[in-house]
Amino acid sequence: MKALVCVEPGLFKYEEVDKPALNKDHALLKIKRIGVCGTDLHAYEGTQPYFNYPRILGHELAAEIAEINSSSNFTIGETVTIIPYFNCGNCIACRNGKTNCCVSMKVCGVHTDGGMMEYLSVPVSSLVHSNGLTLDELALVEPLAIGAHGIRRANVQPNEFVLVIGAGPIGLGTMEFAKIAGAKVIAMDVNEQRLFFCEQNLSVDYTINAVTENVRECLIEITGGDMPAVIVDATGNLKAINNAFQYLAHGGRYVLIGLQKSDISFSHPEFHKREATLMSSRNATRADFEHVMESMKDGLVRPSTYITHRVGFSEVKNVFASWLDPANAVIKAMIEM
Ligand SMILES: NC(=O)c1ccc[n+]([C@@H]2O[C@H](COP(=O)([O-])OP(=O)(O)OC[C@H]3O[C@@H](n4cnc5c(N)ncnc54)[C@H](O)[C@@H]3O)[C@@H](O)[C@H]2O)c1
Ligand SMILES: [Zn+2]
Ligand SMILES: [Zn+2]
Repeated sequence: MKALVCVEPGLFKYEEVDKPALNKDHALLKIKRIGVCGTDLHAYEGTQPYFNYPRILGHELAAEIAEINSSSNFTIGETVTIIPYFNCGNCIACRNGKTNCCVSMKVCGVHTDGGMMEYLSVPVSSLVHSNGLTLDELALVEPLAIGAHGIRRANVQPNEFVLVIGAGPIGLGTMEFAKIAGAKVIAMDVNEQRLFFCEQNLSVDYTINAVTENVRECLIEITGGDMPAVIVDATGNLKAINNAFQYLAHGGRYVLIGLQKSDISFSHPEFHKREATLMSSRNATRADFEHVMESMKDGLVRPSTYITHRVGFSEVKNVFASWLDPANAVIKAMIEM
């Protein structure tokens, strides 16, 4: 079968490889759609920390079950998506249902080979029934579940002001699920084109350009002086993360979906006087996947909002580098097999 191997940063190669063996409690998937994510782009670019090559990328998948070696309620021929965070099932996080932050997590397409090949073997425990969703919808569940998880972590309540910083694919999904939770959403970015995208495609309530506007004054005006009850970082930018502590309402929650490598620092008295809550948000659980899928079924979330680019598998090698160019304004590129 054909596979697209990322041999080293900047180099993709189509290779003929053996079809994976079908191990116990695994299913062999015939891949149908692969969504391209920041992780894939950074891995190709060579800027993804702790990434080993060669690697077959791709973890946002829609597929058909070709073979299955397990007694389960999944059947050959049905379409599925997967929860690509392969967890151990035994550690303290897994035992407490927090499979999203397993101590020895292996992310498909990051730590193990992913979906940019014709067939992929995955644990049956990672499978998710399609529930009538389309292939495009199924491939979008994972990236949207990241934002849905962050919003669930923050326990967002109707009519709360939620400031989402960063309007990339992850931030956009976060805004969408904050809206679904009934929040009033403020989108902030430094990129005018992305803020325009939020207004046009997500009808967010307010946008702030962090470069050209006075952020504090905008927030005071929008929230009537209260400031946002919830702030979610989806930039992964250290300066943006450190800055945002000062924008939080008293009694507020600050959730970090974005990730960067340095230490975070903030004023303890400012944090204390707010009785602020700081949390990280990693990956997503099956409950988040189900919430995203229900929202799709209800027509609240549409693939057309996110999918800006689409190519066949044989073209990926040629076009992949162009998706890194901001001029091409990629939100989600979708690969069809
Ligand atoms: N929690 C998780 O499990 C998880 C999963 C996937 C991605 N992530 C992280 O989420 C973050 C966002 O991912 P993405 O793919 O959407 O990235 P992206 O680079 O496409 O989007 C980031 C956005 O932040 C904006 N930005 C940068 N600096 C800013 C600043 N100072 N103020 C305001 N906006 C600023 C950029 O203009 C951009 O639009 C990354 O840090 C990524 O590592 C986390
Ligand atoms: Zn992803
Ligand atoms: Zn575990």
